[in-house]
Amino acid sequence: MSQPLPARQLVLSLLLAASVIGQEAPVDLWSYSSPASWGRTFPFCSAPLHLQSPIALTVDRVVLTPPLKVIADPGAHDWVVEVGNDGRRLELNVTMDPRARGASPTYPIQLVIDNAPLRGTYNLTMLHFHWGDQFGSPGSEHAAGDKFFDAEAHFVFFDASFPNLEAAQEVPGKVAVVAVLLNREGNFSGPTFPTFGLQNNMDQLATRDSHFSFRADLRQLQALLRVVLSRMFTYFGSLTTPPCTPGVVWMVSSVETDISGSFLDCLTTQVYQDRFRLQRLVNNRRPLQQRSNRVVFKQISLGSDGLLA
Ligand SMILES: *[C@@H]1O[C@H](CO)[C@@H](O)[C@H](O)[C@H]1NC(C)=O
Ligand SMILES: *[C@@H]1O[C@H](CO)[C@@H](O)[C@H](O)[C@H]1NC(C)=O
Ligand SMILES: *[C@@H]1O[C@H](CO)[C@@H](O)[C@H](O)[C@H]1NC(C)=O
Repeated sequence: MSQPLPARQLVLSLLLAASVIGQEAPVDLWSYSSPASWGRTFPFCSAPLHLQSPIALTVDRVVLTPPLKVIADPGAHDWVVEVGNDGRRLELNVTMDPRARGASPTYPIQLVIDNAPLRGTYNLTMLHFHWGDQFGSPGSEHAAGDKFFDAEAHFVFFDASFPNLEAAQEVPGKVAVVAVLLNREGNFSGPTFPTFGLQNNMDQLATRDSHFSFRADLRQLQALLRVVLSRMFTYFGSLTTPPCTPGVVWMVSSVETDISGSFLDCLTTQVYQDRFRLQRLVNNRRPLQQRSNRVVFKQISLGSDGLLA
């Protein structure tokens, strides 16, 4: 109690910096207003050897692969999803099992990757969004060439031979993030991102730490993933939020996808960073990081009918 606050905060920061390698950093310790200073508390964020994300994507090498397998649990058609505002983004936690409440988490969607050097079964644990603002600033973190998009969704997967996401983050290549670049729904004819009608309940997510559960047919996400994973950029990078853990396999779809305009409007005007509706949560995107000498692959899957998907 007698210790002055700054010192206590420093100690706390150091402790966290030492121990958060595999965990989400508490949101109080960083902000989108100063991404350049994240490295002071979270060393990976500014360490040049720990190759970071996002980056501008241009293709170095094209590879043709068999389609990735996206498998849904038999219960995925009626799954309990928890959606929450953590003050930095809107996150959908899909690790709950509707049939075994309170039991250990189970996962509705699995991705089977079988392209050397990457092999494994990855379980989807959560998805979240990054977005711009109501004045039309772009919201995507990655750029395709020099083009940014209205928003970007991240599906976070971990290698199913690890007990959980935290454990998988300790080992390079064991966390895989599928990124979907999103356009405001318009006259575009691509696939549409399911928003589960959340735009009608955005009031309940306005303030930091607000959350609620709803039931959803997650086969919609399975179907979307099958389409978006047919053409993608792949590269090695990091988490785009502190602690910026490196060794993340990025699969950034090059299939541009539509998302409801009213959903985007809700994100940019109704979601706040705090508990008192003082500061809107907007432009929650990390700036581009140096690509250095990383190789970016364009991976195109051969459709099951033998044609290019
Ligand atoms: C997701 O929900 C499960 C079950 O309630 C919980 O154990 C887990 O901590 C949650 N994960 C996140 C990232 O909120
Ligand atoms: C991954 O998901 C599958 C299918 O739901 C499940 O059998 C397996 O236990 C999960 N892995 C982990 C580490 O929980
Ligand atoms: C969409 O198409 C309609 C009819 O073709 C046109 O009137 C409208 O301006 C288009 N909107 C956008 C955003 O391009």
